[in-house]
Amino acid sequence: MRTLDTLGELRSKTVVIRCDLNVPLKDGEITDDGRIRASLATIRELREAGARLVLISHLGRPAGVPEERYSLRPVAVRMAELLGAPVGFCAETVGAEAESARAALGDGEVLLLENLRFNPGETSKDEAERRAFAARLARGADAFVSDGFGVVHRRQASVTELAEALPSAAGRLVEAELGVLRRLTDHPDRPYTVVLGGSKVSDKLGVISHLLERVDTLLIGGGMLFTFLAAQGRAVGASLLEADQLDTVRGYLETAARRGVRIVLPSDVVVAEAFAADAAHEVVAADAIESSSFGASGIGLDIGPVSAAAFAAVIAESETVFWNGPMGVFEMPAFAAGTRTVAEALAETDGFTVVGGGDSAAAVRALGFDDAQFGHISTGGGASLEFLEGKTLPGLEVLA
Ligand code: 3PG
Repeated sequence: MRTLDTLGELRSKTVVIRCDLNVPLKDGEITDDGRIRASLATIRELREAGARLVLISHLGRPAGVPEERYSLRPVAVRMAELLGAPVGFCAETVGAEAESARAALGDGEVLLLENLRFNPGETSKDEAERRAFAARLARGADAFVSDGFGVVHRRQASVTELAEALPSAAGRLVEAELGVLRRLTDHPDRPYTVVLGGSKVSDKLGVISHLLERVDTLLIGGGMLFTFLAAQGRAVGASLLEADQLDTVRGYLETAARRGVRIVLPSDVVVAEAFAADAAHEVVAADAIESSSFGASGIGLDIGPVSAAAFAAVIAESETVFWNGPMGVFEMPAFAAGTRTVAEALAETDGFTVVGGGDSAAAVRALGFDDAQFGHISTGGGASLEFLEGKTLPGLEVLA
C-alpha cells in the first residue's frame, strides 16, 4: 500500500485529505472527539512538511442535500483547538467558494470543507456520477491522502474515485489501523477471544462465520444475545429478537461445537419492565427470562453480573482480545454495568486488546476509560469488522 512517504516533496503543494470526522453530536456539541484526535497525526506531519491542507469528511447520513444538523462546522472549531492552529471552514464542498478558499491557502494552513454527503455524487451508485464529483474535489489539488479508516469499506467518490483522480497514498491513521488489524488476522497470540455485542446479529453475520475459523472463544452480549438464547430454545420475553436469523445462529452454534470454538452466552441477564432509563429491573437467569416480575413483557437490557464476571475471567486469560459492540444499553446507567465490567477486564489484562467501532469506542470513553488503557481503539466500526471478515475493502484496494 502506498504511504505518505511515496508522495515526494509536498511543500507548497495542495493536498486533499479524506478524514473520517463523523463524530457523535448532541445539541450541536461533540460528545466524543476521538476521530478528530485520531486524524491529527497525518495533519501535523503534512503541515510540518509545508503542504496546504484541504480536509474532507462526511458526518452522519444526510441524503445528498445540506442539513444544518450534519454540518462539519463544530468539527472545524474542535480541530483548531486540538491542533493549536487555525482551521478554516468553507460552507461549501465543491464550487466557486470552495475553490477560492483552497486557492487562498498558504503553506501549512488547513481548511475543512463542508460535509461531502451534502452532495449526491458522493454516495451515488452510478460510477460516472461519483467520478464527476471526485473530479470537482480534485480540482486545484496536487495529491490525495486517504486517512478516513472508518470509510475505507465504502465505494464512495471521496474514498475510491478521488484516489484514482490524483496521486494518492494512505495516511498515518490508515497505516496504523491496518497494522493492528493485520496482527489480529495474521498472527494473533493465543488464546484469542472476541467479544461481540450490539443490537443486531444480522450486522455481524459475516464476521461471526469468519471468526469461527480463527478464534478460541467468542463471548456474546448486547441485544444480539437474545437471538442466540432463542436459537437454543429459550423464551426471551419482549427482548430484541431477530427471528429470521435463528437458523443461521443454530448453524454457528453447530460449527463452533464441531471446531472446538467456545461460544459463551450469558448465564444471567438484567431484565427491565420497559426500554427506559428509570424502568424497574431485576437480574434473572438467562434460561428463565420470563420468570421475572415482568413475565413475557420483560426486556433484556444488559448481561447480568455473574455473566459479566465470567466474561472478565475469560478476557483475563486471553493473549488477544477484540471487542465490538456494547454488552447492554450503556447510555442508561442502570444497564451499563456489563459493558463497564468488560471494559475494565480489557483495561486490566496483559494481553493485546483492540476496541473496534464507533459505538464501542464511544462506550468506553463515556464510561470514563482512557484510550491509553487499551492496546488500540479503532476508529472504524463497519470497516474493522469487514477487514476481520477478510473482505477486500475498496478504499484500500485503490491505494495498492
Ligand atoms: C462509521 O461511523 O462507521 C463511519 O464514519 C462510516 O459511516 P457510514 O456507515 O455512514 O458510511
